[in-house]
Amino acid sequence: MLASVALERQIEIVQSGESAFCEADPAKVGQAILNLIRNAIDYNRPGGSVFVKTWQSDEDAMLSVRDTGIGISADALSKVFDRFYRGDESRSSPYGSGLGLSISKSLIEAYGGELTVISEPGVGSEFQIRFPASTQKKVDPQANPSQRRPKPSRISPE
Ligand SMILES: Nc1ncnc2c1ncn2[C@@H]1O[C@H](COP(=O)(O)OP(=O)(O)O)[C@@H](O)[C@H]1O
Ligand SMILES: [Mg+2]
Repeated sequence: MLASVALERQIEIVQSGESAFCEADPAKVGQAILNLIRNAIDYNRPGGSVFVKTWQSDEDAMLSVRDTGIGISADALSKVFDRFYRGDESRSSPYGSGLGLSISKSLIEAYGGELTVISEPGVGSEFQIRFPASTQKKVDPQANPSQRRPKPSRISPE
């Protein structure tokens, strides 16, 4: 679905980095990530790019979705996570409802993560997810197997 929309608009999606793990429901975190990628396509320019990267920073699990799109003004940056907020240039687009980012933020925060954004109008935007190490339970490998942590979820768009 996302791949076909990207193809139609000649936007390339470039994935890189290393595996990063967090303790969360993969379907919910996946939905949050898909919302970010959808925006990175919708608010891009024809022939633009979307870079999706995952990595470990110290022990924090990180994911970034960066685009080469229209960017977000300083004024709008403080509102993009508000429910129903849509930028002026987006209101005519039939795709969104202004809920995607507020849902992504709630889903990420529900698992102890953070969602932040930096952007430069006319250049592009970068949304970053961080799951601090403190949200990942430490395990004693000698512990009773029944007390071991559940299998961690890999954070990735798939
Ligand atoms: N990657 C992005 N580049 C530029 N603007 C964005 C980006 N992501 C979100 N926005 C802005 O934030 C608004 C809110 O995003 P979202 O909650 O996903 O709602 P929707 O996409 O349905 O409008 C969008 O209408 C748009 O103005
Ligand atoms: Mg959206």
